[in-house]
Amino acid sequence: MTTETLDIKITRNPNSRLESTDFSKLVFGHTFTDHMLVADYADGEWKNFEILPYGPIALSPAISSLHYGQAFFEGLKAYKQADGQISIFRPDKNAARFNKSAKRLCAPELPVDLFIQSCAALVDIDRGWVPDSDGHSLYLRPFMFATDPYLGVVPSSTYKFIVLACPVGPYFTKPLRVKFETEFTRAAEGGFGFAKAAGNYAGAMLPTRKALEEGFDQLIWTDSKEHQYAEELGAANVMFLIDGKLVTPMTRDTILDGVTRDTVITLAKDEGIEVEERRVSIAEILEAARNGKLTDAFGAGTAATIAPIGAFHHDGEEYTLSDPASREFSNKLLNTLNDIRYGRVADTHGWNHLV
Ligand code: PLP
Ligand code: COI
Repeated sequence: MTTETLDIKITRNPNSRLESTDFSKLVFGHTFTDHMLVADYADGEWKNFEILPYGPIALSPAISSLHYGQAFFEGLKAYKQADGQISIFRPDKNAARFNKSAKRLCAPELPVDLFIQSCAALVDIDRGWVPDSDGHSLYLRPFMFATDPYLGVVPSSTYKFIVLACPVGPYFTKPLRVKFETEFTRAAEGGFGFAKAAGNYAGAMLPTRKALEEGFDQLIWTDSKEHQYAEELGAANVMFLIDGKLVTPMTRDTILDGVTRDTVITLAKDEGIEVEERRVSIAEILEAARNGKLTDAFGAGTAATIAPIGAFHHDGEEYTLSDPASREFSNKLLNTLNDIRYGRVADTHGWNHLV
């Protein structure tokens, strides 16, 4: 890790859209702030860090990320604190995961402090865009992609790193009706399911579209070998409260090691709740749903936050869970999480990075 201070060239946007943006009608990922941060990797180093007005960029149509998918991203959020300060939640974790993705996809790593400074600089210039209502935040989307204009299937020698920012509200607006996906596979052992690779999301689109057409809101991916064990949701990790214990699939090379997942596990342990990270079979989940031992189930992710699962569907049977509004565990968890993120209680874990 370097401790370099970034020299960022700044060109301010003369035509701010802030005043004309309706913060009560935000759709996830549709509204971008006035600026973006862009940097280049070439000749073995990161350079040309620049903040400029958000807008199109010129690229060769031959860049290898478009053809071979050498592209990956992160997602993290900035919050307006109760005292007016702005903080980014656990950016060090996203920076570390960004580099795990980079390694797996043969792309250059970005030093953790350059990742964090880049995000913080963009948030700083666009600080007026950080919403202040509960459940709202500024979503940051750092991403890297290969820019060599060659069609040879080799790792690129040049890359772009860009950070975009979007004011957002809740990603899911109602409890999720989910099905266990037992036909398609998101990731297999030895693959790159643990990376936040663009290709993982492309491969998920057809199964997800089918699930939506069948009336589901999301699917729960299962293991590639037997399709009997839960892995994660399409855009969040999955967690269950079974017999008073927090149970979640252990991370491995097929599962994204979620920052929210880690946060939830830490908060649950703080409360003295037993946590089990292990294989969780569909049969176990459905049996617990039948006998009343499954008292909570939810997705955990940056965009999704804590997204309650209202019902499971499997093999033609529907399993409706308790009313999410009455669930003690996930409601308290979300309140605690929000209290920390919005600076309403002490940040005892040091998760808020003040901008
Ligand atoms: N799993 C997938 C596939 C995701 O896209 C996400 C979202 O980032 C997560 C899990 C949750 O990860 P995090 O909590 O770091 O956002
Ligand atoms: C996130 O929560 O940051 C994600 O990446 C989910 C997403 C694909 C919208």
